[in-house]
Amino acid sequence: MIPPGPRMPSIVQTARFVADAERTFESYHRRYGPIFTVRYAGFPPEVYVTTAELAAEVYRTDQGGGQAGAARKDFLEHLVGAHSVLTLDGDPWWRHRKTLNPPLRAKQVAGYHDDIAAIAAERIATWPLGRPFALRERMQEITLEIIIRLIFGIRDAGRTGRLRELLPGLLATGGSTQVVLLPERLRPLAARVPYLPYARFLRLRAEVDAILFGEIRRRRAAPGGTDVLGRLLETELDDQEIRDELITMLIAGHETTATGLAWAFERFLRMPEVLERLPDDEPYLDAAVKEVLRVRPVVYEAPRLLDAPLRLGGYEIPAGWYAGPYIPLVHRDPAAFSEPGRFRPERFLEGHQSRAWMPFGGGRRFCVGAQLALLEMRVIIREVLHRLELTAPDQAPEARRLQNVTLAPAKQTRVTARARTPARTA
Ligand code: HEM
Repeated sequence: MIPPGPRMPSIVQTARFVADAERTFESYHRRYGPIFTVRYAGFPPEVYVTTAELAAEVYRTDQGGGQAGAARKDFLEHLVGAHSVLTLDGDPWWRHRKTLNPPLRAKQVAGYHDDIAAIAAERIATWPLGRPFALRERMQEITLEIIIRLIFGIRDAGRTGRLRELLPGLLATGGSTQVVLLPERLRPLAARVPYLPYARFLRLRAEVDAILFGEIRRRRAAPGGTDVLGRLLETELDDQEIRDELITMLIAGHETTATGLAWAFERFLRMPEVLERLPDDEPYLDAAVKEVLRVRPVVYEAPRLLDAPLRLGGYEIPAGWYAGPYIPLVHRDPAAFSEPGRFRPERFLEGHQSRAWMPFGGGRRFCVGAQLALLEMRVIIREVLHRLELTAPDQAPEARRLQNVTLAPAKQTRVTARARTPARTA
């Protein structure tokens, strides 16, 4: 038996999801309970679960039976290439993951603290004062700069400037439905029509690759450096594999972290009692960041493509289907979080330890960049609040809107900034 789910045509299910993911899933959850089947047009059915226990069973398939890489491959391979920790599975995945783990551990990324603060300060100084603007875009500029300088290790002004221009376009075209859903057999043809998004995507990718391969060559000739590229050059990965992993970290780490930061301010600016305790109480700041990622998880699902049938919640899910947690609902499970509807950072200060907190997924495929993302969020929030007083021009909460694989604030977190006088210092 398979889990229950809506009966409407898959095209309608897809449209409902895109129009309002939050309400759609809440209604499925109310109607069908903690495990249900959703069908998207053109894809195998997906079984969603909404409790930590069931999610753990899905994550357990990382030991065998579930493929996180295959579940992402069709959407990402044209961007990240054939050698990415995002899209590989089995032994090839582990060979790559082993090389990415060490440079992204908490102890290693702690060394980036001052660089992150300096990048944030540089950008914050350019923000407009006294008129509303979209904070999420500004956060994307900061997280992009962090990737260019601390992950790609590129410091040269000409090359960083060029990447700053190229990368947003590469991500926008590479993530657009016109490119992602373009059938494989039509790609050679589309590549030859210069004004099509696919051709533009290929041009951008070629130029970015030329810069990355150039950097890899230069750095092989002069080894060392504390950035992630420097560490990857010490491993067995070849140039193409390193290029693929650099783009992987860009894809996985840029928009996600910026959206997490956008949500942090969207929430904080509507809760004076929280804002008051920020940012210098370090444990509270850490807890508040975690609570933001609980109430507004940026990535809504962490699916596995099953290559064997899976017994889950009393049902049997066929091979060839997807299974995964629907993270926003797991985070509201009252069995795992007391008063789940309340924003209460204190729960993390009281030593809340639960497998139900899963903004970074779980199992063996747990986000490799989680420690860097959490550090970035803490440091950037601190830098902003030391320099500026932010307010929300409209106090109504921003809705969640689907943006690529993230749920982002619908108005991109609109804020108005005023200089803090005198500037608060740490
Ligand atoms: C707030 C920011 C971030 C969020 C919410 C986030 C969330 C996630 C989630 C949900 C997954 C899937 C885990 C699973 O399938 O169980 C993931 C995987 C991944 N993330 Fe992140 N991430 C963030 C930041 C970053 C950063 C900064 C980097 C890199 C520097 C990064 C690199 C990756 C990679 C490479 C994977 C694939 C891991 C694998 O399959 O082995 N992420 N992330």
